[in-house]
Amino acid sequence: MSQEFAKAGRAAGIVAEPARPPEAVEAEAVVVFVNAGGIGSGTAATVDAATQGLVSRVAAGGEFSGKRYECVPLLAPPGLKATQVLLIGLGKREQVDAGILYRAAAAAARQLAGRPRGRVAFLGEAEWSATLAEQAVAGGAVGMIGQDLYRAERRRTPFGATAWVGLAPTFVASGTAIADGVNLARRLVNTPPDDLYPESFAAEAATIAGRTGLEIEIWDEDRLLAERCRAILAVGRGSARPPRLVILRYQGNRRSAAAIDLALVGKGVTFDSGGLSLKPSESMLTMKCDMAGGAAALAAVATIAALGLPINVVATVGLVENMTGPAAYKLGDVIKARSGTTIEIHNTDAEGRVVLADVLDVVRGLQPRRIVDAATLTGACMVALGHDVAGLFTNDQPWCDAVSAAARSVGEPVWQLPMYEEYDEQIKSDVADIKNVGDGRWGGAITAAKFLERFVGKIPWTHIDIAGPSFAEKPKPWTDGGGTGAMVRAFVELARNIATKT
Ligand code: BES
Ligand code: MN
Ligand code: ZN
Repeated sequence: MSQEFAKAGRAAGIVAEPARPPEAVEAEAVVVFVNAGGIGSGTAATVDAATQGLVSRVAAGGEFSGKRYECVPLLAPPGLKATQVLLIGLGKREQVDAGILYRAAAAAARQLAGRPRGRVAFLGEAEWSATLAEQAVAGGAVGMIGQDLYRAERRRTPFGATAWVGLAPTFVASGTAIADGVNLARRLVNTPPDDLYPESFAAEAATIAGRTGLEIEIWDEDRLLAERCRAILAVGRGSARPPRLVILRYQGNRRSAAAIDLALVGKGVTFDSGGLSLKPSESMLTMKCDMAGGAAALAAVATIAALGLPINVVATVGLVENMTGPAAYKLGDVIKARSGTTIEIHNTDAEGRVVLADVLDVVRGLQPRRIVDAATLTGACMVALGHDVAGLFTNDQPWCDAVSAAARSVGEPVWQLPMYEEYDEQIKSDVADIKNVGDGRWGGAITAAKFLERFVGKIPWTHIDIAGPSFAEKPKPWTDGGGTGAMVRAFVELARNIATKT
């Protein structure tokens, strides 16, 4: 299963082609990006000229306005070899950024992947920067893959081949590598919990490590006990599937081999029933997504390795299944975490922070220069920010600013929430050092972050709560729904920014 999965979802046959007139493009379908308010002077204008003004006539007739993610197929266009030109709207020209291009390319690919196709050509614009070009390529390769892993009749079929006309081969290669990372994270999230559990996630990580030349350590129950990871073990105790800790290392920085420039940390709860503080059925349905942070950390380090970035990265994922078995951890239990901090359990559904307490302590011991974690940590973060925006929390403002800039530059929206000392009051316990929930629901995303802060020491750390953006319950123009691969692109961009600065 794992080998097969490792192969599925990797974008094959994506090539760069030198710029050429549209009539010389060999493809079944040609995708053209169009701004709102006119075809301008780029590829849309060349397609218009080659098709005897078809594009401008369709626009003049009001059938296409170029608004964001509007998708209009022009069938059997005169003058072209292709059987279809697909117009995809980008909205106002001055507002176009990497995130819009990623989603627009994905929307076009999603529409075309609705039935099997041979070769699809995307017309790139010469004026696109490296980031714009790369994110467009990535979006094209993400949009053609759906969440129908287990359907006999696929809703999306990846193209036989993809050509990016007029883009530099380096951008096409890096965009494809990034798409592979996003699609890997999506597939892991979309895989049902009975197929993806701590051991099988770790096995997937080992397969990927082998393929990308990463060093990997997998801690089993015995090793976790020897390492005093009692918090991870406590959460895992309710499940028949034992917990795991995965540590992946990528050494790309030749100038300072010993230092870890960046530590990526992920919450890897492969299924969250809530434990004895059981979730209601409706909230439990999507809890296969609760390892999305772990998937992002794994996929990002694999992509960083595939790109050969000059940076040293460690990615660590804490893997557990939160269940209600006879040995399950209980309310009122006090756990002595690896760091020595004692945690009183008030709610077994606040399990992510308990797992991360030990993971962060392991990472802190490695003394990385900076830590960023991604976790589907709280419903409260979705109450605060909605489905599409991730919450940011930090103990170091410049590091948070760097994380935020990287995420936004690739179109992953983030918003910082405060970490005033006053919130610390809320996680005090009468019997232990801290408790695993705040007082009531108020500020729940922040009290969770405050809990995590206790385990990172003085190392610059930023926590990203991805409960909202990691999983799309409904389809959007650019995705069928399910796992989104949230923060994979942000993490890769962040690593690249650090690599060029250090
Ligand atoms: N995994 C959930 C958070 C979550 C909710 C992720 C919805 C994705 C979508 C987390 O473990 C959880 O259950 N958090 C509780 C914390 C509470 C008990 C303090 C929550 O948010 O309700
Ligand atoms: Mn939970
Ligand atoms: Zn959870």
